[in-house]
Amino acid sequence: MRIGCPKEVKPQEFRVGLTPFAAAEAILRGHDVLIETGAGLGAGFTDDDYTAIGAQIAPDAKSVFDVAELVIKVKEPQAPERAMLREGQVLFTYLHLAPDAAQTRDLLASGVTSIAYETVTDARGGLPLLAPMSEVAGRLAPQVGSWALQKANGGRGVLMGGVPGVRPANVVIIGGGVVGAAAARVAVGMGANVTVMDRSVPRLSYLDDIFMGKLTTQYASAAATAELVQTADMVIGAVLIPGAAAPKLVSRAQLSTMPQGAVLVDVAIDQGGCFETSRATTHQDPVYEVDGIVHYCVANMPGAVARTSTQALGNATLPFLLALAGKGWRQAIRDDAHLRAGLSTHQGRLTSPPVGEALGIEAVTPDQLLAG
Ligand SMILES: NC(=O)c1ccc[n+]([C@@H]2O[C@H](COP(=O)([O-])OP(=O)(O)OC[C@H]3O[C@@H](n4cnc5c(N)ncnc54)[C@H](O)[C@@H]3O)[C@@H](O)[C@H]2O)c1
Repeated sequence: MRIGCPKEVKPQEFRVGLTPFAAAEAILRGHDVLIETGAGLGAGFTDDDYTAIGAQIAPDAKSVFDVAELVIKVKEPQAPERAMLREGQVLFTYLHLAPDAAQTRDLLASGVTSIAYETVTDARGGLPLLAPMSEVAGRLAPQVGSWALQKANGGRGVLMGGVPGVRPANVVIIGGGVVGAAAARVAVGMGANVTVMDRSVPRLSYLDDIFMGKLTTQYASAAATAELVQTADMVIGAVLIPGAAAPKLVSRAQLSTMPQGAVLVDVAIDQGGCFETSRATTHQDPVYEVDGIVHYCVANMPGAVARTSTQALGNATLPFLLALAGKGWRQAIRDDAHLRAGLSTHQGRLTSPPVGEALGIEAVTPDQLLAG
């Protein structure tokens, strides 16, 4: 199959859909791989890295979209990219269609068969193509938070691990899922005094087990949150209620109870944020201050470490990519219910009922489409 990978065009997106490693795996199985020139540069992969493993380089995006039977990307296609999609072509990328009527309309009009990374599932009920980015954002959170804690960056001048004779920073992580556990791992590693809060007792038990006493777990009642933020040097927001906006767990009034110069890192900002005073920021201008509290609210944190993120995403997408290229999309989703869960549009039909519900568009399930 002809697999194509264009350069990402969304502002500040440095990842690339296909790593040289993934491209090499596809080529080994007899597929042709076409990469737009410069597509990998943001993640540190040159055109030569791709040609060395047998991929071809295309001069522009149009040359990729024109010939690719399977298009691999990272971000949802932007309007000029959508204009190049066509029926008979498969698009495999993050889509996030529910809040995006214009993109949904364009994908349906193009007739493309689109499969969304974010709705592919796994046998444990997880989202395997979202999890790697949560891992990245989680591990990054204490790192950026500790930078923000430095005096010159607006913080209260506290070192995460303290020093002998001086207490370490108090880090409170609200939400102990993929992001929260990854954040805890790094914050514990930096020597901070870490508390993880969650509403799931089984999840707290799990964290208690794997961290073997290196952190404290706390049920996330409103009262416990109010108490813990009063002594926190850093609070990391990492909650998720699937399909819903993040609940606001720290109010503006509570900021005045926190130590001046404490830092809030709101990883859940992509779902609206879990602190009342959060608003999305960018890597160019990542922090701002409200009532003496430093806020870091970058909505695409993995972009800061594009190379690591690209490699992590590439590892996770590879088995699905090889199945799609090897068997064709129809057989691949017949064989794999988890990949099937990602099917979003096909020949002008919406195949994601939740997106249909959000946008008021009639939808069938992927099973109904296959049966029809
Ligand atoms: N900013 C970024 O760049 C970025 C990157 C990746 C993920 N995220 C976001 O991070 C958030 C967390 O993602 P995840 O993969 O860890 O999700 P997850 O489902 O693995 O974990 C979420 C956790 O939040 C807990 N929770 C739900 N409501 C709660 C509440 N009221 N109080 C305390 N805990 C509560 C759940 O029990 C669960 O353990 C999501 O909003 C995700 O979109 C942001």
